[in-house]
Amino acid sequence: MKVDVLLGLQWGDEGKGKIVDVLTPSYDIIARFQGGPNAGHTLEFEGIKHVLHTIPSGIFHSSVINLVGNGVVIDPVIFKNELDKLAPFAIDFKKSLLISKKAHLILPTHRLLDAASEQLKGKNKIGSTLKGIGPTYMDKTGRNGLRVGDIFSPKFREKYDALVEKHEGILKHHENFSYNLAELEGPWFEGINKLRELTAVDSEHYLNSAFLSGKRVLAEGAQGTMLDIDFGTYPFVTSSNTVTAGTCTGLGIAPTRIGKVIGIFKAYCTRVGSGPFPTELDDEVGEEIRKEGKEFGATTGRPRRCGWIDLVQMRYAIMINGVSELCMMKSDVLSIFDEIQVCTHYLINGKEVYDFPFDVNDEQITPVYTSLKGWSTDLTNLTSYDESPEPLKHYVSYLEEQLNVPISVVSVGPDRKQTLITKK
Ligand code: GDP
Ligand code: IMO
Ligand code: MG
Repeated sequence: MKVDVLLGLQWGDEGKGKIVDVLTPSYDIIARFQGGPNAGHTLEFEGIKHVLHTIPSGIFHSSVINLVGNGVVIDPVIFKNELDKLAPFAIDFKKSLLISKKAHLILPTHRLLDAASEQLKGKNKIGSTLKGIGPTYMDKTGRNGLRVGDIFSPKFREKYDALVEKHEGILKHHENFSYNLAELEGPWFEGINKLRELTAVDSEHYLNSAFLSGKRVLAEGAQGTMLDIDFGTYPFVTSSNTVTAGTCTGLGIAPTRIGKVIGIFKAYCTRVGSGPFPTELDDEVGEEIRKEGKEFGATTGRPRRCGWIDLVQMRYAIMINGVSELCMMKSDVLSIFDEIQVCTHYLINGKEVYDFPFDVNDEQITPVYTSLKGWSTDLTNLTSYDESPEPLKHYVSYLEEQLNVPISVVSVGPDRKQTLITKK
């Protein structure tokens, strides 16, 4: 069997949680491969809204195994909170949630280092979610990190203390940065105890034997391609590989095992945090999208920056990920417009640019738009793609033609049911 991958093509928050939940009945295992509690994946069904940060979005389907891969970084406090919030759903976590022994732990001092680093950057700050993501991945690549498997070692406390000592040595150099570590440590060790009650596995072995026995696996990405540490708008990115290749390193899956790559995007575009965003609308139109699309971060509550869809950026993301099919999200939000703009290319120093450029942070980029007719109709009650208005069908086929990848899903609302399958 092959592993299918679902990941974001823009700057995150494309609607990954919703679509993973919708697709879960076709899979046996849902596996998160990178990121950590910087993610906020929203699912809505039966009138309830859930936001997941570390737990994979297949958790509401009892027949499925949800695996947190080695590429993920875990904050035991946030993880425990997530589990506590799910208590009313009587989920058997011991059975349905597996955690890689190789996943790295976010320490309270990682969060402090994140905050101190952002404070030092001042107006050049990344706009991090301040969940300790950067410092934790730095310790991973610096070969200092603590992993889930370590919590079962009698030397765990010793290892923890040694790493904290190192961190405090760094924090000492940050002027005007005060903290109370003891306050943070209590809940952290409670979270560690909770983790000990769950099932830690050698997830690479688990997954590879699962394929051999015919199990269907969906890898769930976090963040989006433009936040990838290598291919995103560096340095305004996260600290992991959010692209398809991240599935291989984040789960221990060989590249030859990758099957479908499902790329998910909003019918427009958003970004939260700092950094370049060529099609950003810093005007009333942007404000209308934010209002209609309820574009406020699922993790931090920050307003998301909004703009039109950017085909330069989308083609780039499709290329890097090898996307085989697309899901277009939040189509209903664009119902408020008579005309919809699509950025086809950029003008940089008077030159037409079709490939996403290196110096996106420094160059003055002018997006060039094509205008398409809006559908100006409420889509949220649609149950079949065939019944959708002609201008929406035209928008879909225009994007398919421009991007050279079929759109298999058109989402028309946040609920599980508000999902149209276009399959022709
Ligand atoms: P993720 O991080 O990619 O899982 O996305 P988020 O959960 O951070 O943000 C997506 C937001 O859009 C959530 O509030 C979803 O409930 C909502 N959403 C998803 N699909 C649709 C859709 O088609 N229409 C509307 N209006 N909202 C949607
Ligand atoms: P999901 O999985 C949107 C952004 C932050 C910041 C940058 C670095 O819900 O799509 P970090 O905390 O990783 O150091 O922040 O990345 N960011 C996200 N933006 N969705 C996310 O996740 C994000 N995770 C991180 O806003 O700009
Ligand atoms: Mg999100």
